[in-house]
Amino acid sequence: MKIRSLDAYQIYDSRGNPTIEAEVTLENGMTGRGLVPSGASTGQFEAKELRDGEASRFRGKSVFRAIANVHQKIAAVVRGCDVLDQRAIDDSLIALDGTPDKSHLGANAILAVSLAVANAAAVAKGVPLFQSLGEGTLLPLPEIQIFGGGAHANWRTDVQDFLLIATGAKTYEESLRITFDVYHAAGDLMKERGTCYGVADEGGYWPEFRTNEEVFETFLRAIERAGYTPGVEASLSLDIAASDLFDEASGLYHFRLEDRSFDSDAFAELLTHWCEKYPVVSLEDPMADTDFDGWKKIHSALGSKLQLIGDDLFTTNIARIRQGMESGLANAVLIKLNQIGTVSETMDAIRLTQEAGWNPVVSARSGETEDAFISHLAVATDAGQLKVGSFSRSERMAKWNEVLRISRSLGARARFSPIC
Ligand code: PGA
Ligand code: ZN
Repeated sequence: MKIRSLDAYQIYDSRGNPTIEAEVTLENGMTGRGLVPSGASTGQFEAKELRDGEASRFRGKSVFRAIANVHQKIAAVVRGCDVLDQRAIDDSLIALDGTPDKSHLGANAILAVSLAVANAAAVAKGVPLFQSLGEGTLLPLPEIQIFGGGAHANWRTDVQDFLLIATGAKTYEESLRITFDVYHAAGDLMKERGTCYGVADEGGYWPEFRTNEEVFETFLRAIERAGYTPGVEASLSLDIAASDLFDEASGLYHFRLEDRSFDSDAFAELLTHWCEKYPVVSLEDPMADTDFDGWKKIHSALGSKLQLIGDDLFTTNIARIRQGMESGLANAVLIKLNQIGTVSETMDAIRLTQEAGWNPVVSARSGETEDAFISHLAVATDAGQLKVGSFSRSERMAKWNEVLRISRSLGARARFSPIC
């Protein structure tokens, strides 16, 4: 089935910022859309989203140049292509851009089209997106944020994400039930403390804590209040987003909340201490994306005990993931479509991760849309884990709910594992 036309226009993300949506129309009139998310604690090695940068218009955040690239450059290449040949279309987008970081056309322009093609292909085949993308039947284990911090909550805590992994769940549905219980117990605790100021960018509580350790203690109390045992039914996962804490010039990590600085060794020791003291089963970006020695140190201390995820470290980039594998820096890769910019490259990154025996964790961004593409991607690839933010705000719940629908559509074929 051939592509007849391609359109693109500006929509708004969950922070109310402009983003791009593309729509592919096939020769039979069927359509598919692609909606692009946007990060706040972005890695320096990510593919580059193109924004107009005019301070007087949308605070510089409008995406009209990226939209013009879709209309004036990309449409001519994509028109007439077979919508089922995702790989050929993605390859031609990469070639048309011609830069390693997609900065010419904009990774946001390219991804919008790539996602729209994938959605249109599913519509053309008359199957759900997850089935169109792959053969997978594994429902993902959710990583769900309870407290939000870092760049997503004006640095109210230094750690960006305090997340829950329902290690005692036997089904995907049960993992959401455990999350529901703990999320609301945490909300009750915050109300009792009188220190809750709503939710952060990804829907976790935006609290007023004095130390990072205080968050751990509150988190454990919430798990207990919900009737579970920390480390049994409900375990902890942390995204330190350490690149945001790191000063290249001095080589120091800085905690704004506690006003403390650490050299790389001291920071690795602190994180190791936290992971020994609390039931942490997964740790993301513990060290900065340039601090390879720090990563090696953390890996030798914790790599055999818990999941060690590279997000800003790898930026869903095959070359960086390979380098990390050769150097033994981590054992899992965060997978974000807009870090690399096409569906095909994202699926390549997932496959490479799996072939090495590492875990891929499919992830949303802090600036999201109502789209649930990543829920389908996680199942289609048997990725095994999904990180979307918290258990509130519809741009988050859309993803969790979509997995519930996929679960129903898979029926008895659906699989699930609480081990990360
Ligand atoms: P971001 O945060 O989307 O703002 O980069 C998410 C993450 O760090 O995992
Ligand atoms: Zn991260």
